[in-house]
Amino acid sequence: MDWGMKNRLSSLMGPDGKCMFMPIDHGYFLGATSKLEKPGETIKPIIEYCDALFVTRGVLRAAINPDDSKPIILRVSGGTSVVGGDLANEGLTTSIKDALRLNVAAVGLSVFIGSDYERQTLLNLGKLVDECEEYGIPVMAVTAVGKELEKRDARYLSLCCRIAAELGAKVVKTYWCEDFDKVTEGCPVPIVIAGGPKFDTELPVFEFVRDGMEKGAIGVNLGRNIWQHEHPVAMAKALHAIIHKNATATEANDIFNDTKNG
Ligand code: 5RP
Repeated sequence: MDWGMKNRLSSLMGPDGKCMFMPIDHGYFLGATSKLEKPGETIKPIIEYCDALFVTRGVLRAAINPDDSKPIILRVSGGTSVVGGDLANEGLTTSIKDALRLNVAAVGLSVFIGSDYERQTLLNLGKLVDECEEYGIPVMAVTAVGKELEKRDARYLSLCCRIAAELGAKVVKTYWCEDFDKVTEGCPVPIVIAGGPKFDTELPVFEFVRDGMEKGAIGVNLGRNIWQHEHPVAMAKALHAIIHKNATATEANDIFNDTKNG
């Protein structure tokens, strides 16, 4: 791997090789998502716990301080919305030239495997990898399922992750599922665990993250379960402990409660 590619990839992780990515890209298809109306304000108290931000160029330029930022994973796919025809019908929205101008550490796009737009989104990935390899920029593929959350089982997710890696993604973001080791074992590049809609309680979040880490994930890309929570700092601190300090789910829950109670 070339120096630039390697350097960008390692900038996304802690010295332990683990990572906590903070996605705030939801507006690209959801509009002004609850608690993310002012993304710059949302991340202020929690940014210290994360290793990189996953964000679109619009929010990056409008809301993130360039003098004091974490490494950026730039969301470069989109073109659909939650009120449109099909979320899977994505294209590439941002040029590599703009990604370079923004000095990003990586770019990210969604692939929708099994959807009507499987081919299109996989070709988006291939094209993006071709362009990014020229400049040493890693591509993170997001194995998206649109509104069909029930698709998230090991057989399907393992197929998605493997295909994304085969097409050149350097990191794959996918959902946690039962038998998550089947997903990580079949994927030759690092996997980060996605979050999904906010859970009602905290412990199940800590449990699936801990299980995913034990089964081979290198970290998380988890947004709503942190910044939509009533106690975002407590959530961020607890998850950071699982990822970077090898805390168990119970220990993370204690950290959450201690932080919440001041
Ligand atoms: C949307 C995304 C988001 O980054 C992703 O959903 C992660 O955030 P959350 O933990 O809130 O689900 O890639 O496709």
